[in-house]
Amino acid sequence: MSESSVDIAPARQVRPAARVKTIVLMLSGMLLSAAAMYLVARSELERVAHGASAEGAARIVILTIMAIMVAFSALCAAGFYRVIFRPLSELNRVIFRHAAGDRDARLNWERTDELGMIGHNFDAMVSTISQSEERLRDFAENAVRALALAVDAKDPYTRHHSERVACYAAGVATELGFSAEHIERVHTAGVLHDVGKIAVPDAVLLSQHPLSDEQYETMKGHSVAGERLVEGAGLPQIARWVRAHHERFDGRGYPDGLAGEVIPLEGRILAVADSFEAMTSDRYYRAAMSAQDALAELQRCAGSQFDQRLVEIMVGWVMAHEQKLPIAERFVLS
Ligand SMILES: [Fe+2]
Repeated sequence: MSESSVDIAPARQVRPAARVKTIVLMLSGMLLSAAAMYLVARSELERVAHGASAEGAARIVILTIMAIMVAFSALCAAGFYRVIFRPLSELNRVIFRHAAGDRDARLNWERTDELGMIGHNFDAMVSTISQSEERLRDFAENAVRALALAVDAKDPYTRHHSERVACYAAGVATELGFSAEHIERVHTAGVLHDVGKIAVPDAVLLSQHPLSDEQYETMKGHSVAGERLVEGAGLPQIARWVRAHHERFDGRGYPDGLAGEVIPLEGRILAVADSFEAMTSDRYYRAAMSAQDALAELQRCAGSQFDQRLVEIMVGWVMAHEQKLPIAERFVLS
């Protein structure tokens, strides 16, 4: 909070223009009304002095007073509406938009009276709240990123795995023509895709032998655990992609057994990028495949394990970027 750059309106900026204007208008109206009533009453008294009916004169005076009171009340109502009720109504609309989740809603009033001060301080308050929410989101996201890095760092064979998956997934997203912001989210999903492995016991995660059926079932839980962690960090859309990164195009993946385009596109991208990175990295039980062999394996599994279109894009992207990839020393595509 202390680092907030929000400009809170100081009280000295307030000029009670609305209050003064309202009082002056009301006093003027009252004086004019009194003057009008006095003139009417004096005129009727003169008419009575010249023999006119006193009863008729009284009726005229009373009707005149009533008409002036009605007109004065209408003017006061119009003034209050303009000065008080219309701004309050606008304030209510902006509060409602915030309640509906629109954090960009502001009053942006130019007025410098009491209501202007309320409006200015309201805008400053919601800006502070928005900044605090953003900082909390950043903090939560960074915490989950740290967890993902910690998972990778547990095993020397998977160190930097998530960063490389993020790089490949962002490359495919770029080829698909995603917006810069969308590419950034896909990159984040790549970094976080295996964060759920933090919930997998080391005996399973770091096993130097092929996993038993029971251990494999335990390992499979990481996509759902990852979804929960990422969702808890305030990234619900990325959480869905993380959940889907082990789905297969033929429906034989996990955790939901989704097939084809029902699998989120970003989840399918992660699957291709994840597999390519895993194949081109050393493991306890096997040496890294060459990039050429890994691409051939992706193509062999296109249409069954992977989305064929994404495999084609991945192959083209790797061929075009072999010199810039994170593990370029392995990418000699002879
Ligand atoms: Fe995974």
